[in-house]
Amino acid sequence: MKLLTTITLAAGMGALAADPLPIIPQPVKVETAAGTFVFSAETAIRHHRDLAADAKLFADDLGKLTGQPARTYAKELKIHLASEILLDLDPTLDVPASGYRLTITPQAVKVVGKDAAGAYYGTRSILQLLPAGKLENGKAEIPAATVTDYPRFGWRGMHLDVGRHFYPAEDVKRFIDWLAFHKLNVLHWHLTEDQGWRIEIKKYPKLTTVGGFRDSTPPYGNRNSDDGVRYGGFYTQDQIREIVAYAKARHITVVPEIELPGHAAAAITAYPELGNDDIPGYAPKVMTRWGVHPYVFAPTEKVFGFIDDVLTEVCALFPSPYIHIGGDEAPKDQWDKSPRVRELMKKENLKNGHDVQSYFIKRVEKILESKGRKLIGWDEIREGGLSPKATVMSWRGEQGGIDSAKEGHDVVMAPNSHTYFDHYQAPEKSELAKGKEFEAIGGLLPIEKVYSYDPVPKALSPAEAKHVLGVQAQLWSEYFKTFKKVEYHAFPRIAALAEVAWTPLAAKNYENFRQRLTGVLKHYDAAGINRGELFVPPVRKTKDGSTVETSIGTYQDHWPELAFDGSPDTFFWADRELRAGDHFTLHLKAATAAETSVSITTGGPAGKNGDRLESGVLEASANGSAWTKVADFKDGVAEGKVPAGTAHLRIKVTAPQKNWLIIHEIRI
Ligand code: ACM
Repeated sequence: MKLLTTITLAAGMGALAADPLPIIPQPVKVETAAGTFVFSAETAIRHHRDLAADAKLFADDLGKLTGQPARTYAKELKIHLASEILLDLDPTLDVPASGYRLTITPQAVKVVGKDAAGAYYGTRSILQLLPAGKLENGKAEIPAATVTDYPRFGWRGMHLDVGRHFYPAEDVKRFIDWLAFHKLNVLHWHLTEDQGWRIEIKKYPKLTTVGGFRDSTPPYGNRNSDDGVRYGGFYTQDQIREIVAYAKARHITVVPEIELPGHAAAAITAYPELGNDDIPGYAPKVMTRWGVHPYVFAPTEKVFGFIDDVLTEVCALFPSPYIHIGGDEAPKDQWDKSPRVRELMKKENLKNGHDVQSYFIKRVEKILESKGRKLIGWDEIREGGLSPKATVMSWRGEQGGIDSAKEGHDVVMAPNSHTYFDHYQAPEKSELAKGKEFEAIGGLLPIEKVYSYDPVPKALSPAEAKHVLGVQAQLWSEYFKTFKKVEYHAFPRIAALAEVAWTPLAAKNYENFRQRLTGVLKHYDAAGINRGELFVPPVRKTKDGSTVETSIGTYQDHWPELAFDGSPDTFFWADRELRAGDHFTLHLKAATAAETSVSITTGGPAGKNGDRLESGVLEASANGSAWTKVADFKDGVAEGKVPAGTAHLRIKVTAPQKNWLIIHEIRI
């Protein structure tokens, strides 16, 4: 315990070093020393006998720099190597699991892993210290240093949706290389959707021959339209075995997701008897539009038998201890209409759709338990009561994760506020100006916001926080027609995710990360990665150093400060409906010297009354605690005079409203 404390404290110093080693995620502890190690085609790998496979992978990686794979030798072999990197194992090393110590001296490089994963992560750090792409003059120098490192979380995940769009196995494998580069260790593979079933199941061939194909897809630029082009594909079991093995060699677990009971239109189209075929107008189709669709599995014995069969094949393909069963966005409409479901509800004493969902998920958990696996699902699996041992993936914000952890369930934090990489990385307007193929689902998630995320919510006690297994980013693929587009959304935010997942909280520092990112971007560029723009949000500054405080969140980059930045073209835009009591408060840099006119205009473009303040007051205060009313908002506008000595202005919402809120330049 003592040792860990020392290391964590030291980490902060590593993060603040003037010229940081360009490693992402930031290691726990970095001590730099004098001199450099010279790497060249002569550099060979000597390895512990249990690290032969890792050494081989590393040798191939180094070969991309030198033109030929590095030579590898067993550690015990008594030959002299002029230049060597030693990969060693020591289960007694003073770091937690998956940790390593990397020692670079002018004479040699040594990686000691606590385990094989740790040794492999050490090799990833070395690759980041080396140049990107082919060596220019056959040599590269890396600075002498000692790095002591281990992960903060055991679940460092990236999700990939292959249901909405399908990507060749080769693309998935290349992506796995990049997860490994960032020391991520989970690929959450979203394999089944309303728009396509992508995993071959031998016992149910129509899942892929029928469910793997759809008649049309919305084109870029018009999500409520159809291109009329048949689209589809799936992975054979051989391909899946190959991908799982490829990932395992890189210390990555592939967690498959088989969506239940919703997002199941493709499966139900292949086998209509799996759906609620006792309701009027029943006609399942593999879906051709995005969104949430009504076709959900029926809670019948036939369906539980089907699920058992499918999961038998899934478990044979995926050694992951966790199987993801979806559970999100399952509309209850079809169950409400189904006489068969009503009968089940009576028999099992289920009061509503949530109870049926809970019954369904609990049955699936039993099936998985019988196969020795653990159930993980999106936070909707809490509806109607969580199955006893389930792990929850919290996507609708953090609350599902917080509640589950407090109840003693393990959780993976994947909130749509900070980890949905299908959201824009730069503002929608500037992205769409580049072309309609830049369309994304919506939202704005700049890399800095990803970086700012702490997967342990403040609401959890230290004991409850132990249930946070880790964090994961999501790549939903509605708007990713090609893998190049996946890259555009994944990179460089994946680097921020890696640091959120790996680096001790105390060692995180965004400015320092940005310095190190420069080196990592070179690796992306050398590999031809189609990375997204490094968007720098507009400076959040008022015109005179006045400050703004508000209870309301910000839509995209329409920061609160923009309502007092001196520009009539910029404005604050709320990101939600308003509640009575919401406020927007301006703390003036200097109190008014005399009675002064104030004018505030809210709402959308002239002539339109969207997003204006419908019920509210403008108040003034000298001390920030005693407030007097200056004016009511009328037609979205408040005008009045504030007394001399006014140092604070407050817009207060007096009634809830459905519209959001735009505040234009405040004129004083
Ligand atoms: C989800 O985004 N529906 C999990």
